[in-house]
Amino acid sequence: MGFLKSWPAALVGLLIGTETVAFNSDPSVSWCGKPYMSSVAAVDPGGQFQFPTPQANPLLYVTVQPRYSIFLESDGSGSFIVDATISHIFGQSFKNVSYDTPGQEKGNPFTTMDFEIFIEESGQLLVSNSVPVNSTGNLIGFSFSSFKPRTQPYAISVYGTSPDGQQSYTASTQIYILPSRSYGSAVKIDNLYGGLYVQNALNSWKGWYGIFPNGGYADGGYVSPSNFSLTGLDTYASQDFNTINIVPDGGLPDQSYPTASLSQYWDRMDELNLFNIYDMRFAFMNSTRISEQVALWQNRTTLLMWYTADEPDGWMYALNSTKLAYDQLRELDPYHPVSLVLNCQNFFYSNYASGADIIFEDAYPVAINATWSIPWGTPCNLTYGDCGCDNCVGELEDVSTRLDDIQSYQANLPGRVSKPTWSVLQIFGEQDYWKSIPSVAEVENMMMLSVNHNAKGITYWIYPSTDAVNVGSGQLGKVFQSAPSMAFIFGTNAIKGLPVQGEPLVDASAWIVGNQMMIGVASGEYIDFSSQITIMLPTSAASVAEVLYGDSSWTVTGNKLTKSGLMGLEVDLLVLNLS
Ligand SMILES: *[C@@H]1O[C@H](CO)[C@@H](O)[C@H](O)[C@H]1NC(C)=O
Ligand SMILES: *[C@@H]1O[C@H](CO)[C@@H](O)[C@H](O)[C@H]1NC(C)=O
Ligand SMILES: *[C@@H]1O[C@H](CO)[C@@H](O)[C@H](O)[C@H]1NC(C)=O
Ligand SMILES: *[C@@H]1O[C@H](CO)[C@@H](O)[C@H](O)[C@H]1NC(C)=O
Ligand SMILES: *[C@@H]1O[C@H](CO)[C@@H](O)[C@H](O)[C@H]1NC(C)=O
Ligand SMILES: *[C@@H]1O[C@H](CO)[C@@H](O)[C@H](O)[C@H]1NC(C)=O
Ligand SMILES: *[C@@H]1O[C@H](CO)[C@@H](O)[C@H](O)[C@H]1NC(C)=O
Ligand SMILES: *[C@@H]1O[C@H](CO)[C@@H](O)[C@H](O)[C@H]1NC(C)=O
Repeated sequence: MGFLKSWPAALVGLLIGTETVAFNSDPSVSWCGKPYMSSVAAVDPGGQFQFPTPQANPLLYVTVQPRYSIFLESDGSGSFIVDATISHIFGQSFKNVSYDTPGQEKGNPFTTMDFEIFIEESGQLLVSNSVPVNSTGNLIGFSFSSFKPRTQPYAISVYGTSPDGQQSYTASTQIYILPSRSYGSAVKIDNLYGGLYVQNALNSWKGWYGIFPNGGYADGGYVSPSNFSLTGLDTYASQDFNTINIVPDGGLPDQSYPTASLSQYWDRMDELNLFNIYDMRFAFMNSTRISEQVALWQNRTTLLMWYTADEPDGWMYALNSTKLAYDQLRELDPYHPVSLVLNCQNFFYSNYASGADIIFEDAYPVAINATWSIPWGTPCNLTYGDCGCDNCVGELEDVSTRLDDIQSYQANLPGRVSKPTWSVLQIFGEQDYWKSIPSVAEVENMMMLSVNHNAKGITYWIYPSTDAVNVGSGQLGKVFQSAPSMAFIFGTNAIKGLPVQGEPLVDASAWIVGNQMMIGVASGEYIDFSSQITIMLPTSAASVAEVLYGDSSWTVTGNKLTKSGLMGLEVDLLVLNLS
């Protein structure tokens, strides 16, 4: 956040589509579009997400997505995710009737949709199949025989019909079938469950392995000092982090990294298989810099993804800035996803998020005053003030609420485009808005809240923190990365908000895969509770199979998981056998 550079605030009218909105676009006097100094009056920042209005009649919402963000020729075959849901927001008109039996006047219910999937440019038929009406997540396989691997995507369309052919539905998507790799890395997103999968030197470019990212934004002076030393980086890696985002130096001429020096550190990261989230926060609005930096680093075996904008919504960068960078990166390097972090709770989400495949949130709620700006001495509300955590309440749950917000915005955009959400967790403090550094218990609690609310990766601002936090966040991250936990986190989506009795502030989620269910528990209370705690499970379970983290005294009876008492901020992760 900058200091006062100029004033008074410039109120600028921005043309977005057909609607003109006014917001305060000067970051020296406002953040997330809200003035933060007592000398400037409150103003509606605009840019609030417009939830579509449901209509009375049901629609059939047909969508097609590739299962993975990219396929490689060596995969041999791929699959689509076809959804055909009854919606009152998106889709095409639907009548629950099909006159497919000759002579039968009343017709049959329309319960199955037939469809064909075509490659647009060649008109070739890829798949012919059917799915139940009002079903999601149908996986439809296809072969690569009709495709020539290339770096440009193929446009794909689905044409669905009722059995009598009278009602029809269309949707489209694009898929990448890329030339196989024998160097560098390829990283794909699972559009069904949000996990990341990699192939690189570690597995000799054979197949894919899942990675649950857990790592910090790292202070360059510590992990990659200019007087070359691997001590900081090795310590970091020994704490079990598997990703890193080394924060670039905006003061350098190319607002990037010293190339020779980063190259040396990156050699070590390649040896460790420590994945880099390559940060272009100061350079992503300059297309020359994007091209130069991609050319330098795109062949690294531990390149995980490109990271463009850091809080573009807070800084109020041009609304098209993230998408322009995204389109360029897609052209230059389709093998890696693009990510960014949003700081505001509800400010031009669709514009900024259109420029990334993965959206991070960075609500920092620990030791703030959510209603009174400590540095600026103003109230904070929906139109005014900066309290260090936009529209927050100042509880750890701000993290999970923000993930829910982002997921709900994304789900209410047309076209069903999946975007995994990640958390950036607060591990700093003792500065302006944030009076103290979070304890390790607070950090682990925010980690569990994140995973409970479908974060598919975790990062931290900023490493190094306290020794306790550095060690604890690495250790719990290692639990999330373990095979038993990954099977659930990457094998389905969480059932959030399980009902809990016995203590008010407990967040619990369930993941069901096969004949087991994983349960994540985060107590939001800072004090110990001794009462009986009961979590209502979404389905009955027979026994506790394994405690992956935390207390082992949980017992299960039918659909109730119980335990006597919870410690302040307790975190538990366990696997149950279903009955
Ligand atoms: C269509 O009608 C059948 C028969 O009444 C019913 O079972 C089915 O749930 C209906 N489907 C929808 C999407 O309304
Ligand atoms: C469609 O499926 C959803 C989710 O399973 C369900 O809540 C809804 O009632 C179904 N709608 C109809 C019309 O069957
Ligand atoms: C090297 O850099 C580190 C970290 O910035 C610093 O603590 C140390 O004093 C430096 N050593 C030399 C010899 O300059
Ligand atoms: C973009 O970056 C290039 C290369 O660093 C630099 O020469 C150029 O001046 C930059 N353009 C702007 C508008 O900053
Ligand atoms: C990366 O690989 C591509 C394709 O083989 C090659 O053209 C390019 O020169 C490589 N870049 C670097 C920096 O090695
Ligand atoms: C992006 O937006 C900026 C500022 O609103 C505008 O000046 C520029 O022309 C736009 N660029 C493109 C390529 O649309
Ligand atoms: C926030 O600041 C206001 C004004 O100084 C004060 O009344 C309130 O108690 C503070 N709240 C917290 C949670 O510190
Ligand atoms: C926010 O606080 C400012 C300053 O007290 C006030 O002028 C404004 O009306 C408030 N906005 C809302 C939405 O309450």
